[in-house]
Amino acid sequence: MKQKRVHIVTMGCQMNVYDSEQMLRLLVPLNYRSTLRMDKADLILLNTCSIREKAEHKVYSFLGRVARMKRLRPDIIIGVGGCVAQQEGYRLAERAPHIDMVFGTFALGRLPSLIEQVKRQKRQIVDTNARAASEPLCVKGPVLKAERATAFVTIMQGCDNFCTYCVVPYVRGREVSRKPEEVLEEIRLLVENGIREVTLIGQNVNAYGQKNGQGCDFPELLGRVNEIKGLNRIRFTTSHPKDLSERLIEAFYRLDKLAPHIHLPVQSGSDRVLRRMNRGYSRDVYLRKVENLRDVRPGIAITSDMIVGFPGEERVDFEATVDLVRQVGFDSLFLFKYSDRPNVPAAKFSDKVPEAVKGERFSTLLEVQSEFTRKKNRALVGTTQEVLVEGPSKKLPNQLTGRTYCNKVINFADDMARIGQILPVRVVEAFSHSLLGHPVDKGYVEYSGENGGISYAA
Ligand code: SAH
Ligand code: SF4
Ligand code: F3S
Repeated sequence: MKQKRVHIVTMGCQMNVYDSEQMLRLLVPLNYRSTLRMDKADLILLNTCSIREKAEHKVYSFLGRVARMKRLRPDIIIGVGGCVAQQEGYRLAERAPHIDMVFGTFALGRLPSLIEQVKRQKRQIVDTNARAASEPLCVKGPVLKAERATAFVTIMQGCDNFCTYCVVPYVRGREVSRKPEEVLEEIRLLVENGIREVTLIGQNVNAYGQKNGQGCDFPELLGRVNEIKGLNRIRFTTSHPKDLSERLIEAFYRLDKLAPHIHLPVQSGSDRVLRRMNRGYSRDVYLRKVENLRDVRPGIAITSDMIVGFPGEERVDFEATVDLVRQVGFDSLFLFKYSDRPNVPAAKFSDKVPEAVKGERFSTLLEVQSEFTRKKNRALVGTTQEVLVEGPSKKLPNQLTGRTYCNKVINFADDMARIGQILPVRVVEAFSHSLLGHPVDKGYVEYSGENGGISYAA
């Protein structure tokens, strides 16, 4: 069989990163291998995200670029998968007649047969059907790209929470969990292939196991993952504050491999807005949980998501948000301007916040948070951190990149041979989004950086 090449473009969250790997896993037996060059590909797959308006626009501008390519090489196959595919289905096919197939989030496992169908039928194929009961949530297969040190592992998919702004329950469906044995087997295989850190992913990991009758909930699963020999670090994302149980908080005390970092999206600091968002917790409940986390694991890094300009957000609501940000002192914050999504309840709320006001609030909050991010990062200068070396830095030549146990990105000069190791690294300089370090076992270094220069001895 002739060797064929596939170019996969991934937009959106970690779930899509995992899913793109799943696609590749399905295509390897069909004799495809992955290429970074789109112009050399026989098959182009776009894995899309629909979370905000901007994400969806990105899909259409990408499809515009691909249209030219399809005109020049009509034999290439172009497929659009993921959340926009699930949401738009036939509308997407109609709007982009040059694409060969649209496959929704539940159709991922059917990719090989859809490609066959495209080849046979020479017409557009659309599959936004549900996953059949017999179809697994995730595809088993060989570990791909084994030369890395970290991996995502899907433990559940879908969401039953229906926050009023969010498209996820519509494009990812109801919560479904994988069997614990299946998750553990996948992690063991990854560890055998050199993986040292796993991030367990799901739209709402706290709901893990609640429906599949296996008697294993999320804290229990974490405990079992913690026992896997050869694995060093465990992370998870995302957990919903309303479901962050005492037992899960205790896991940060009990489990030695669970990294001291939690991403706990709060979305707003105003009770009135939280209610309209249907988040299911109050500001006080959130703050108490943060306090409990810090009690059981002092120094735990806490990051969050925040939406500004949700319909009906008044000045006082926004001030409550700013106040919460100051009160918590997040390690970092992902800030979003509210945007309408198809069919979600908030799209029909009449009291929309003008774009200019959203912009102002966004800048104000960004400034408030930047101060905390800088302060937190600066506090690390001079300390030694355990760093898992992930690979060459994408931005800095001759530098490696890794993350501290608290999930801060750190770059440092070292040998490629150290990829996959956990090293003590001294932090020498702090920037807004990363740190600069020096491996402790590399001896004495004179460092002169932007902060006026710091000298230290290892
Ligand atoms: N399951 C996660 C969120 C996943 S979506 C959770 O509940 O925590 C990632 C983030 O995108 C959300 O936390 C929210 O801050 C943002 N987001 C979702 N819908 C949005 C919308 N319509 N407009 C702006 N931001 C949105
Ligand atoms: Fe969306 Fe809310 Fe579900 Fe998160 S919990 S995926 S924000 S509906
Ligand atoms: Fe986007 Fe779908 Fe993830 S909408 S954020 S890719 S679940």
